[in-house]
Amino acid sequence: MSATDREERVHVLCQAAVHADACRKCRIGYERRNNVYGEGDPCARLMVIGEGPGETEDQLGRPFVGRAGELLNKMLAAIDLKREEVYICNVVKCRATMETPSGLRNRAPDPQEIANCRPFLDEQIDVIRPSVILALGAPAAKSFFGSAFQITKMRGRWYEGPRGIPMMVTFHPAYVLRQTGGEINAVKRLVWNDLKQVRAKLDEPPPVPPPEQATLFEA
Ligand code: URA
Repeated sequence: MSATDREERVHVLCQAAVHADACRKCRIGYERRNNVYGEGDPCARLMVIGEGPGETEDQLGRPFVGRAGELLNKMLAAIDLKREEVYICNVVKCRATMETPSGLRNRAPDPQEIANCRPFLDEQIDVIRPSVILALGAPAAKSFFGSAFQITKMRGRWYEGPRGIPMMVTFHPAYVLRQTGGEINAVKRLVWNDLKQVRAKLDEPPPVPPPEQATLFEA
């Protein structure tokens, strides 16, 4: 990877972040404090895709910086990855909320919000071209594989993601944090199995490019 390639990716991502910040296709674009575009290594081999920013992310304009983010950092460390080595983003870039008697609460983004935000995510995938994608939680998985995706039955397997990139789906760290009693360890064990598969995929030798035609005919 040349320095120029890295610089170009940074440039394209910065411009895209400006466009995302200006986007008002959805109501949540007017309601959020910050657009949470994404962050990390523009040349990352692993891209992590969550659902959408929560309150802390909305305040700081950065993905996964609340409690779920702390757990995500630990999950990455468990497979020898630093947060700065991967690229972290979400299916939607604005915090989706609903009014409740006890105040503003996070909610899952709706299908129209996901569709409106998709060009930003597609561009991130195109620019970063990761070797592996890790999707966190059912809303992220459903946004790629449809509403029939059942995370409890279908996580932990490889799927073909956008651009043919292998995608693993695991539980969202916020879901892990919501577990109580004996469930915590059972869910953590499942997540650990999924993460080990991600590590193994990243450790696979890169595919050998076919020899160029010209060399086939060299004497
Ligand atoms: N949950 C998500 O899905 N994304 C974040 O950025 C934070 C919490």
